[in-house]
Amino acid sequence: MRAVQCHEYGDPSRLTIEDIAEPVAGPGEVIVQVEAVGLGYVDALRVRGGYQVKDPLPFIPGNEFAGRVVELGEGVPESVKGRRVMGVSRNGALAERIRLPARDCVTIPDALSSPAAGGFIVSYCTALYGLQTCGRLQPGETLAVLGAAGGVGLAAIDVGKAMGARVIALASSAAKRELALRSGADLAVDYSVADWRKHLQEAAGAYGIDMIYDPVGAPYSETAFRCLRPGGRFLVVGFAAGSIAAIPLNLPLLKRSAIVGVDWGGFVRDEPQGNVPLLQQLAEWVEQGRMHPQATSQHPLEQAPSVLQALLERRSLGKPAILVTQ
Ligand SMILES: NC(=O)c1ccc[n+]([C@@H]2O[C@H](COP(=O)([O-])OP(=O)(O)OC[C@H]3O[C@@H](n4cnc5c(N)ncnc54)[C@H](OP(=O)(O)O)[C@@H]3O)[C@@H](O)[C@H]2O)c1
Repeated sequence: MRAVQCHEYGDPSRLTIEDIAEPVAGPGEVIVQVEAVGLGYVDALRVRGGYQVKDPLPFIPGNEFAGRVVELGEGVPESVKGRRVMGVSRNGALAERIRLPARDCVTIPDALSSPAAGGFIVSYCTALYGLQTCGRLQPGETLAVLGAAGGVGLAAIDVGKAMGARVIALASSAAKRELALRSGADLAVDYSVADWRKHLQEAAGAYGIDMIYDPVGAPYSETAFRCLRPGGRFLVVGFAAGSIAAIPLNLPLLKRSAIVGVDWGGFVRDEPQGNVPLLQQLAEWVEQGRMHPQATSQHPLEQAPSVLQALLERRSLGKPAILVTQ
């Protein structure tokens, strides 16, 4: 089968596409024919060798996929064969087929296309876990999303709107702000200009911001934090800008506010069953048309290296999907 291979950490242009041996399903496992893979910043970091956990070389990049179950290992019920599923694996998704435990496959809601499903679980579960479980976002509250036109940011807009929030998107270019507005944000603010704090405060209005969702980090986090209303919540989601913000602790003291870490992966590792209600809630909102997940762009397998490069260089828009087999 065809697969993208990473033989050395570094620039995604060094990735190769090769014919490799087919995976074989062990007991309790399935083989999924991969239709679409959603790519994000973490996939690109893993290729560069910059992620906190390094994948042993060589490895197949891509940690999220959507496809169809084509083979069953021993002990997996026959009814699973042919099912449309999505899933998350440490890596291995940018290949025509992937092997994983049957229990890790999630049935795709009918309303979700394969390109959208291929990039759904990580960003949408992180958004719901962050906004609902960690932040307790309430209807009518104002939510500001940093890096709003990235994959994680767009999901936070979609989930925030489904939860009844007013959403302000922060993004660095006109194209990104337009995408965030098309994806449901009520307002968009340019945070690449020097006085963006003033623009964000104007957008928030006199009451201020109830919650900030931050997948970007320094140099934006502290300025955004200063725009929270007293009693607000600041969600630490990631550091796509490359450095970790250090917020002076007098700020949460004076604002009587909370800084909450959102590590969805850690949550799933500690409480695997805890994610089930999150997925059920998300599937319900998709079926009801309250959320509109989609792949922002679709690319053939050969373009996977350039899509990963764009993520590293801040040029990516939304959630790109690689179509592996269709
Ligand atoms: N906590 C969790 O459980 C969890 C789960 C998944 C992902 N994450 C994290 O979320 C972050 C975003 O992931 P993503 O897949 O949404 O990435 P993405 O699609 O690349 O979006 C990241 C956004 O960050 C902004 N950014 C600012 N400086 C950047 C730089 N130097 N390089 C790249 N982007 C920069 C960009 O928006 P502007 O140009 O508008 O600034 C970009 O759209 C990552 O740090 C990832 O590790 C966390």
